Amino acid sequence: MKKINSALLITTALLVFISVPAKINFAEEETMPISGIKKILIAYFSYSGNTREIANQIHKIVGGDIFEIQTVTPYPKNYDAVVKQAKQELASDYKPALKTKVGNIKSYDVIFIGYPNWCSTIPAPVKTFLSEYDFSGKTIAPFCTHGGGSLARSVTDISKLCPKSTLLDSFAIPGSDVKTAQSEVSEWLRRIKITK
Ligand SMILES: Cc1cc2nc3c(=O)[nH]c(=O)nc-3n(C[C@H](O)[C@H](O)[C@H](O)COP(=O)(O)O)c2cc1C
Repeated sequence: MKKINSALLITTALLVFISVPAKINFAEEETMPISGIKKILIAYFSYSGNTREIANQIHKIVGGDIFEIQTVTPYPKNYDAVVKQAKQELASDYKPALKTKVGNIKSYDVIFIGYPNWCSTIPAPVKTFLSEYDFSGKTIAPFCTHGGGSLARSVTDISKLCPKSTLLDSFAIPGSDVKTAQSEVSEWLRRIKITK
């Protein structure tokens, strides 16, 4: 009788184990890109690392491909010199040559564009990047790090360069807060419906 009881117990336990689907762990469920989004590209420019930090946080959550926008000629390391150059580039609508290209931009559905606020708008290398490819029909999610000026004119300027793209709500964070931005980044990704 005892043997029959234990056999019954084992069979019941096995049946329960097989019929209950593996529970998705909450963090995994929360960070899963919503269905329908096929391919994500996270493209960013970063001079001193803040925007790179946010790009990596986004990448950790949504996956996809990550691409650093880099100029052939690096910017000067000296802060005053880079500010002077950025102002000149903005005034002359200069578009510096970029070091590398994205393989097949056509294959991406959602493109994150990350940049530091430079002189109240996007840095010149981001201008080059947005001008080099056809973003028609793509969904663009802008994110920005800044020194207090937030997004300023950057999103308006992106929409001028990509008039046939859908722009999602943008994300902005002070450069000094990027190391602890994970929950704000996750919240933004949920708000724009990239994650559930
Ligand atoms: C050339 C230059 C221009 C900048 N202009 C602005 C500005 O107009 N408004 C602002 O809030 N921050 C400005 N900043 C500060 C940066 O936006 C901020 O430090 C940002 O987090 C840097 O990001 P990164 O480390 O990815 O380069 C500027 C910084 C540089 C180097």
